Amino acid sequence: MFYQISQYFNFLKRSTNQHGVHSPFVYNLVTKCFYSKTNSADYTLISNYKKTLLKNNTVIEITDLGTGSMYTKNNNRSIKSIAKNSGAAIKRAKLLYHLANYFKFNNSLELGTSLGISTHAIALGNTNGKITSIEGCPKIAQFTSQNLKDKKITNAEILIGDFSKVIPKLHQDAFDFILFDGNHNKQATLDYFDLLLPKIHNDTVFIFDDIYWSKGMTEAWDMIKQHPKVTVTIDTFQYGFVFFRTEQVKEHFTIRL
Ligand SMILES: C[S@@+](CC[C@H](N)C(=O)[O-])C[C@H]1O[C@@H](n2cnc3c(N)ncnc32)[C@H](O)[C@@H]1O
Repeated sequence: MFYQISQYFNFLKRSTNQHGVHSPFVYNLVTKCFYSKTNSADYTLISNYKKTLLKNNTVIEITDLGTGSMYTKNNNRSIKSIAKNSGAAIKRAKLLYHLANYFKFNNSLELGTSLGISTHAIALGNTNGKITSIEGCPKIAQFTSQNLKDKKITNAEILIGDFSKVIPKLHQDAFDFILFDGNHNKQATLDYFDLLLPKIHNDTVFIFDDIYWSKGMTEAWDMIKQHPKVTVTIDTFQYGFVFFRTEQVKEHFTIRL
């Protein structure tokens, strides 16, 4: 926790808003998407989705294939405690919603479904697109599949299994968007990045969640930024955005949300 706080102070010193961003692509993304003031009716659905989970006392048995929870080592956990401790924050879910809507992602992939807070937001952001989400815990995946069905989300599919086993079996040739939101450790993050690089096209967007979760995660983020295929990156503290657009010069931005 101390690492995250100290990194946050560093981030505040380095970060800017849209001023001084000379790339039209990044400027438009920041002003029209990150700072969008649009108050869509879907906001209520996004907020209600998480609020309902936070009231759910059902207990399920967790199989954790990742780094586990920072808050508890208990494998029997209530839906409400999973939502509180590992579920995406509403602010992040709204940003994902805007992003899916802004870029009109047709084919999205998420590593780490959990209770589907981000899956739900991405699915709503572009109802004409499709999101495939991978979750290693069968009990959570079953719960979330049913929950999304109950919420009439028809453009999301959950695949159950370890990321490293499911990714090689994905039949899609390329994804427009990939959210890396599970197994927050350095080597695993770099492995998933390498495993998914063959699935990119020029306009694919990657987001890495929790790049300041640990020293190892920040090292992974720094290595990803240096990769020759990566052109633009945007560090928003919670998320690390990666773009591969060959028409952009390599440049790293640090933007406050
Ligand atoms: C931080 S949560 C994801 C949060 C979610 N995106 C949301 O919107 O609330 C991470 C999830 O990734 C899953 N996970 C971690 N490591 C995994 C792995 N190696 N393979 C499959 N799932 C994994 C965990 O079971 C957990 O549910």
